Amino acid sequence: MKITKIISVIIICIMVFLHQSVAEDAQSSSPPTSLPGHLKPLASEATRLPVSVIQDFPSPYEFFRSYVYPSVPVIIKQGARRSPAFQKWTDEYLKSLPESQQLIRVEMRKVEERQLPRMNMPFAEFLDRYQTTDEYLVARVPDFLKKDVLIPPSLHCTNVTANLLETMLWFSSGGTKSHVHTDYVDIINCLFRGQKDFLLVNYTRYREQIIYDHPEGFYSSVDVERVDLNKFPELRNLEFYEAKLQAGDCIYLPFKWIHQVNSFGSNVAVNIWWNHQAYVVPSPESCGMPDPGLDISLADVRFPYHDQTDTGIDFLRDLHPEVDFVRNPSASLRAFMDEEETESLTEQQFLEFMDMMLSGPEGEIWTEEALHVAHQMFQMLDTDGNGEITSQDMDTFPIKINKFDTFFINLGQKMMILCDIADGQISKQVQEILNKFEEDKVRDVGDTPSHEHGSKYRGTSGHTPMRKGEL
Ligand SMILES: *[C@@H]1O[C@H](CO)[C@@H](O)[C@H](O)[C@H]1NC(C)=O
Ligand SMILES: *[C@@H]1O[C@H](CO)[C@@H](O)[C@H](O)[C@H]1NC(C)=O
Repeated sequence: MKITKIISVIIICIMVFLHQSVAEDAQSSSPPTSLPGHLKPLASEATRLPVSVIQDFPSPYEFFRSYVYPSVPVIIKQGARRSPAFQKWTDEYLKSLPESQQLIRVEMRKVEERQLPRMNMPFAEFLDRYQTTDEYLVARVPDFLKKDVLIPPSLHCTNVTANLLETMLWFSSGGTKSHVHTDYVDIINCLFRGQKDFLLVNYTRYREQIIYDHPEGFYSSVDVERVDLNKFPELRNLEFYEAKLQAGDCIYLPFKWIHQVNSFGSNVAVNIWWNHQAYVVPSPESCGMPDPGLDISLADVRFPYHDQTDTGIDFLRDLHPEVDFVRNPSASLRAFMDEEETESLTEQQFLEFMDMMLSGPEGEIWTEEALHVAHQMFQMLDTDGNGEITSQDMDTFPIKINKFDTFFINLGQKMMILCDIADGQISKQVQEILNKFEEDKVRDVGDTPSHEHGSKYRGTSGHTPMRKGEL
């Protein structure tokens, strides 16, 4: 699925939810000012659950089985200490590097405001200024620093490194506050300096409740220091997971989970994004057999999108074709019909079209619920109800998506449900495969305890160790 698609879908869904919330709001009987947490910092009065903590990165196999596919956040205590950056990256050291004269992207405010223009300045100049300004460096990790940041051992898998999307450097004197937002990728964020607090919201549980008034960027413009629960009623009654990262810690943020991040004190962090929807199955075959002692840094792997753009965001468009469909269904449908050399689409052909957009590895996504949702979509698109989507039908689709016509809202919402079903199904399948590996392994090793993970790599013997070049 492509991210662009999702983006549109989300935009639309948000509109739907907005409508609903406004309606609920009007009916709400409790006086707004009595709402717990109203006009206070985000999650002030909310239930806060602790994010679980592990001491070291598990093997890729264990990591994907226990955290990535079940969608469980986790703090990897001291996980960032493995990287040379943890010791090396003092301001003096960084300033002394000749490459620090290169320009880097700096945001002018620590409280996130995505509409504000960014400034490019030499890294060294930023280092001279940041302690006394409101400037916040948010940029792709420059090439000359990549060797100082190690790839977490849980990602030492050829399949995963083939699906890396971006790596970003976050640098400030503290006091940064992000928007409440969603990233449609998997994230590991490692903190080399300072403290960072993450508030996380379980996507699966609250996806129908969260409204982004900026769906184009998957974020809410709510003032996180003074949450207006009348304006953002969806933020009432949420349960938050809370993670307080200290220098040296890393955190895994699951795919689609909603989050908000605050930083304290001079702060340096690096995150790695990878494509969740590649649905890698870490196994000795797909990962190779990394030598546990091997240090693999950001400089040893390829970020395919780095060659194409310098904005770092364009991969979103690439990964989510369904967003294009929701924005302009007739264009997508016509393109598909041209490819298939047909003038109309039966429901069966429409399912093939959907299948193409929801592609994952061998997905058995067509559950009863998915078929039902796709059927509803088909009925919406077959406007004259003759059992086929034709040019005549498409001519009657509303033209302007930005009017947020109910047609688009419904279509977007249904597409989003299908995407979630597909993602959920694939996650489940992958987890079953991973669990089966575990059972097989237990059988293979007989009485040997099967739960000694840590960063040891287990697997069939006879595989040659993976070398850096193979990642
Ligand atoms: C997230 O919510 C879903 C649905 O309520 C639940 O099944 C799952 O256990 C939750 N995950 C975590 C980590 O809380
Ligand atoms: C994972 O690795 C296997 C075996 O090398 C390969 O066939 C498959 O395409 C890879 N999958 C992804 C998503 O990279």
